[in-house]
Amino acid sequence: SERTLVLVKPDGVSRGLVGEVIARIERKGLKLAALELRTADRAVAEEHYAEHAGKSFYGDLVEFITGGPLVAIVVEGTRAISAFRQLAGGTDPVEKATPGTIRGDFGLEVQFNLVHGSDSPESADREIKIWFPSL
Ligand code: GTP
Ligand code: MG
Repeated sequence: SERTLVLVKPDGVSRGLVGEVIARIERKGLKLAALELRTADRAVAEEHYAEHAGKSFYGDLVEFITGGPLVAIVVEGTRAISAFRQLAGGTDPVEKATPGTIRGDFGLEVQFNLVHGSDSPESADREIKIWFPSL
C-alpha cells in the first residue's frame, strides 16, 4: 500500500466541500491515516509549492493557500497517489478535469481547484514530512 498527501484547499473548506471530498476518498476504498484542519503559514506553503517558485502564478498561489483554513490529509491504500489524482481530475477544472471528478464537478478556475494530491512517491514522502512531521 501507498500514502499520498491530500489538501482540501481553502476554497474547498470555505465552500463546505470537505465532507464531499472525504466521502469520495472513502467510497473509492482509500483510508484516512491522518487529518488536520489548519491554516498554513507562509513557510509551509512555500515549501509545499517549492517546485513552482518563480512561476507567474506562484505569488497568488501562496497567498491563496495561506488565506484560510485548509484540511491536510494523509490518504493510504493501493496505488493511492494515482487513485486520488484520478478522483481530483486535471488541474484546470474546465479544460482538463472531466465531470465525475472533484474539480470537474465543483471547480471553475485553475487557482481555485479545490484539492491537491501528491504527484509521485517522492512528492508524497516530501509533502507528508512537511504537513505531518511526526508521521
Ligand atoms: P496540485 O495538486 O495543487 O499540485 O495541482 P496539480 O498537480 O494538478 O497542478 P500543479 O502542481 O501544476 O500546480 C499547482 C497548483 O497551482 C494548481 O493546483 C493550481 O491551483 C495552481 N496553478 C497551476 N497552474 C496555474 C496557472 O496557470 N494559473 C494559476 N492562477 N494557478 C495555477
Ligand atoms: Mg502538483
